[in-house]
Amino acid sequence: FADGNPNASIMVIGEGPGANEDKEGKPFVGRAGKLLNKMLESINLNRKNVYISNVVNFRPPMNRRPTDKEILRYLPFLKKHIEIINPKILLLLGSTALNALIGNEIVISKARGKWVRKKIGETNPELIASFHPAFLMRQPDQKKYAWEDLKMIKRKISALKIKLND
Ligand code: URA
Repeated sequence: FADGNPNASIMVIGEGPGANEDKEGKPFVGRAGKLLNKMLESINLNRKNVYISNVVNFRPPMNRRPTDKEILRYLPFLKKHIEIINPKILLLLGSTALNALIGNEIVISKARGKWVRKKIGETNPELIASFHPAFLMRQPDQKKYAWEDLKMIKRKISALKIKLND
C-alpha cells in the first residue's frame, strides 16, 4: 500500500494501483511512476525522502477509476494512514486524490497549485493538488503547470525548513 520513507515529511497520494503496481505490490512503478520519479527528482525528492500511497489500494477492474463508494470505503484507512505518517506536506496527484481529501465540488484545473491547510485526524498538513502524471503523459502541454506546482513545493520545503537528507 505504500513505497518510500515512512519518516518523510512529504507524502504523495495517487489514485490507485495499475497493472504494474498490482504485480509488484508497490505504488507508481509503471510509466506514470517513472514520470513521477522525474518530477520529484526535479526538486531533489526521491523515494528516500518522500512517502507514496494511493486513495485505493486495489486495482479497479479494467483499470477504471475507483467509484465514490470504493473511495468512501477506503477513506478511513487513508486518513489514518496520513495521520500515522504525519507529513508536513501532502501532495495530491489528480482529481481522485483531490476530491477524496479536499472535496467533491472542486476541479483539479482550478484547485491545483494552491496551498490548503487541513486537519486530518490529529495531523494538520499543508495540502497541494497537482496534475496526475498519467494525465500529463496524455496532455504534455499541461506539464508547465505541474512544474509551477513543484516549484511551490520546493519553496515550501525551504520555508518549513524540512531537511531532505533523512
Ligand atoms: N497511478 C496511480 O494513481 N497510482 C499508482 O500507484 C500508479 C498509477
